Amino acid sequence: MTKLTSKEIVDLSKEYTFFSWSVQGQANPIPVEKAEGIYFWDVDGKRYIDFSSQLMNTNIGHQHPKVVKAIQDQAAKLCFVHPGNTTDVRAQLGKKLSEVTPGNLKKTFFALGGSEANENAIKIARFYTGRHKILARYRSYHGATHGSIALTGDYRRNAVEPAMPGGVHFLDPFCYRCPFGQKKESCKRECISHLEEVIKYEGPDKIAAIIMEGVVGSNGLIVPPDDYWPRVREICDKYGILLISDEVMSGWGRTGNWFAVDNWGVTPDIITTAKGITSGYVPLGAVIVSDKIAEYFEDKYLYAGLTYNGHALACAAALATIEVYEEDNLIENARTLGNYLGECLEDIKSRHPSVGDVRYIGLFSTIELVANRETKEIFAPSVMAEVGKALRENGLFTFIMANNMGSMVFVVPPLCITKEQLDEGLALVEKALEVADKKVS
Ligand SMILES: Cc1ncc(COP(=O)(O)O)c(C=O)c1O
Repeated sequence: MTKLTSKEIVDLSKEYTFFSWSVQGQANPIPVEKAEGIYFWDVDGKRYIDFSSQLMNTNIGHQHPKVVKAIQDQAAKLCFVHPGNTTDVRAQLGKKLSEVTPGNLKKTFFALGGSEANENAIKIARFYTGRHKILARYRSYHGATHGSIALTGDYRRNAVEPAMPGGVHFLDPFCYRCPFGQKKESCKRECISHLEEVIKYEGPDKIAAIIMEGVVGSNGLIVPPDDYWPRVREICDKYGILLISDEVMSGWGRTGNWFAVDNWGVTPDIITTAKGITSGYVPLGAVIVSDKIAEYFEDKYLYAGLTYNGHALACAAALATIEVYEEDNLIENARTLGNYLGECLEDIKSRHPSVGDVRYIGLFSTIELVANRETKEIFAPSVMAEVGKALRENGLFTFIMANNMGSMVFVVPPLCITKEQLDEGLALVEKALEVADKKVS
């Protein structure tokens, strides 16, 4: 293969390939050469700290030798079989998923990523209940395909509507910008009564499922109050509605537990997941359903299928990845280092006038920047572009939100990060925050 310069890689990629969620002419990719642990390097040898685990998915860190070897070994042995056949890795992974997921979640339908997992969860919920509506929240992202984008609440849905019919949205438990105008002291969980009211208007007997991210990720890292998930579970039980936890981003140790719902002791009827299941090494998505739902399909046709359902390479990668979570104590690290991260973020908030709020659970966090702490005014995207530029120049890569939903710098590092590495990255974040501090009114 020809050895390309960094400029050639970027230019050819931009000329011949599309970049997601961008004005194509403005895409500004880093040509990446190699990666290890929490770091990656561009083709010219510049090192970056990966503070977003790429797209919040390389949870175990880059190039873990155990997972690389499992993929190599599986590739040498058997890459692919017809999805109607099976393999040892598929069998073992199915069983393992039923063990790491909560309660009676038992049986998995494999997909290729999060969007497809949600597409299939929608189908399963509709067949199982015989109802067609799916409720989702406004501050949510559930994927880019026809059904999952219809459930997505943010601006990405508006751009492609009309999408799948039957998606209905409700408001979020977003305490920093409470849509019900409440403060923590006076809150009566209007978000819960609002949901129940929406259910009544939409007709409980028409609603197949409520889908929520375990913890909202790309729409602002919204950690719900402790009683939120349990109370939504109660409402679902009351009306016979299925509860789906989209754990595509919030799963796999990210919040200090296997899945975000574990933080509140809730068992949903369906978990959809992807990303951290293989840490992104090979694409894989999964829909894990309760034993009751599994039982329902025992004598019924499952109208769902994908050529790559149960792909052997992906199953081998997932099995090895799950072993890494266990053997390297990554979930425990997310929990303990997450406590430290929370303290650091509160400290950063106290010292930077541009920081309006910090939200965190495990190693899943965001710093919300505001032009004015009183009015909570969102920064113009141009300011966030400057913040992003400063981060990148200083060798830190992360996810930045710069739209009408908020101005935020996410801190979502691989779960293998050490305290020293976290400090090193946070120092670079603080340096970049000075750019925003100067723009505060
Ligand atoms: C919560 C959530 N659900 C679904 C998806 C879609 O997953 P994918 O991009 O793998 O299709 C994402 C992607 O970021 C996500 O964060």
